[in-house]
Amino acid sequence: MNPQEAAIRINHLRKELDRHNYNYYVLNNPQIDDYIFDQMMAELMGLEKNFPEFYHPASPSQRVGSDINVEFKQVPHKYQMLSLSNTYSEEEVREFDQRVRKLTDQPFEYVCELKFDGTSISLNYENGLLVRAVTRGDGEKGDDVTANVRTIKSIPLQLKGDYPPEFEIRGEILLPFSVFDNLNNEREEIGEQPFANVRNAASGTLKLQNSSVVATRNLDAYLYYVLGNNLPDDGHLELLQHAASWGFKISEHTRKCMNLDEIFDYLREWNIRRKMLPVATDGVVIKINSTSLQRELGYTAKSPRWAIAYKFKAEQVSTKLLSVSYQVGRTGAVTPVANLEPVLLSGTVVRRATLHNADVIKNLDLHLSDVVFVEKGGEIIPKIISADLSERHPMNEPVVFIERCPECNTLLIRQEGESAYYCPNVTGCPPQLKGKLEHFIGRKSMNIDGLGSETIDLLFNNNLIRNVADLYELKESDLINLDRMGEKSAAKILESLELSKKVPFERVLFALGIRYVGETVAKKLARDLKSIDQISNASYEELTGVEEIGDKIAESIINWFNNSENRILIDRLKNFNLNLEIVSDQKEGQTEKLKGLSIIISGTFEKFSREDLKSYIELNGGKNVTSISAKTDYLVAGENIGPAKLEKAKKT
Ligand code: IVH
Repeated sequence: MNPQEAAIRINHLRKELDRHNYNYYVLNNPQIDDYIFDQMMAELMGLEKNFPEFYHPASPSQRVGSDINVEFKQVPHKYQMLSLSNTYSEEEVREFDQRVRKLTDQPFEYVCELKFDGTSISLNYENGLLVRAVTRGDGEKGDDVTANVRTIKSIPLQLKGDYPPEFEIRGEILLPFSVFDNLNNEREEIGEQPFANVRNAASGTLKLQNSSVVATRNLDAYLYYVLGNNLPDDGHLELLQHAASWGFKISEHTRKCMNLDEIFDYLREWNIRRKMLPVATDGVVIKINSTSLQRELGYTAKSPRWAIAYKFKAEQVSTKLLSVSYQVGRTGAVTPVANLEPVLLSGTVVRRATLHNADVIKNLDLHLSDVVFVEKGGEIIPKIISADLSERHPMNEPVVFIERCPECNTLLIRQEGESAYYCPNVTGCPPQLKGKLEHFIGRKSMNIDGLGSETIDLLFNNNLIRNVADLYELKESDLINLDRMGEKSAAKILESLELSKKVPFERVLFALGIRYVGETVAKKLARDLKSIDQISNASYEELTGVEEIGDKIAESIINWFNNSENRILIDRLKNFNLNLEIVSDQKEGQTEKLKGLSIIISGTFEKFSREDLKSYIELNGGKNVTSISAKTDYLVAGENIGPAKLEKAKKT
């Protein structure tokens, strides 16, 4: 075959395969046999291999994924990804309608659509090609998961029809129930922890580092939000219909509603019909159809004023309480967990339920072997609502909270005013030690690549580490003898440990895992007290003098440094040259230009992320605030800023 003939054949095969993918994955209406499809794909891949000059990123052959592991790059969202405010009753929906009617005199239409329970995604298309797929992340920036998203067959790589040259479309990535069940069966067979629910499975899959594994998981996607300039219609539903003609999968159950009664009909209908759907839904999203009215109504700090979510009431089932086990966390807090007779609830098999603390057990008056009602709401882990007293056998023993730590047998303590029991053996109790190590290596802490909880387990169980300072004494010979550890991984761990010595002081302070010292508190402590020595020697008054630090935090810091083992730990970390004080050049460009000014940032910005702007304000001595008051000096307004906020700013 000469190149010209190959080009013609490749083109033909790509078009046909795209068409069949679309029929199968978007329309759910396959027109050819899988076998013929596979043969066509094999032929296309053969030709693309022989004629690499015809490579194209949107070829259907590119959906199989690659086995190269990728780290996700964080990228800023062009438009912030906000969430919706939740409502649980028709009354609250009525209130939403009233709020909107107070803000506008125009007549308007609503659109009701299903609220899919997966993981949200933002897709960017340029000239009809998928160029980037980003997870929600913190709403301002997310992980670039394009390679993985390319494997999802219902997401078009190349659009059809009359699409805008540049736009963003958002939707939900889902793992259908059938795939979820198979996946969890496989995981249990190989001794891996099954996913708790379809949402976790979808987001876990999307974050896999190897896209060829993602390709085998058969993720699906529904799109529900088109964003951009010069879009072909003002109506949200009309835009979705356009998007369907470009090749996207849009829910066929989205419906226009003219008034509250029509909305309530939709809510009641889908509360039942959703159980027949192949994917998880947890409510209905009610939106105003006109996008110009949407813009006019704008946003509150967290969510749009033009839409709300109505959440379905959680389903309840009854099952038997088999036993209660106790988990010890990083801080030593002991959490009771109910082990249940497996029962199907909202599409997943429930085996465990959280009991939170001793009071919850007492209030529920739980007895072993009780029949209990279990509910799964928005939270990942189901909870016990009540025990069925009519079914209680007189011999059922009450559940009594344990007195000793299940891991190290130390007598548990409960501080006044606290609901949790703690194991006080902070320097000897294995899950506490491991938890501290895991916290230390995390992304927001020292960000030690290559080390994960499994490796920490392995190192700990082989007596190579007990505390965070031990990490810096690890040698290559310690690592390569471990199970499943190659020279390359060992080198990577040592390299990132070395790199972590450059992590700024405030993050080292956070990484130490002192109770109540979160990211913000660590920042403030570092900024005001400047070094670990100053912090460790600070009096109660000096500590509470730092902004945002009250009694509880100050006491916790003092206690931590009173422990001689912690002092030894700090000395060792100093010897390893970690940043234990503010390094002067760490704050290059620091000025006092904005000193004394309270500044609020609102909306989105093309050139900077909001985080960058906030750091810049801090660097120049200004203070970031989040709500407008008489004390606010400046408002930095970006795109998409809500009209009410702007109005309020003008007034104050
Ligand atoms: S619209 C500005 N529509 O629910 C808000 N969201 O709590 C735009 N979701 O993060 C979101 N189905 O992941 C919208 N039909 C739907 C949805 C939906 C599910 C998710 C989405 C969002 C969350 C909001």
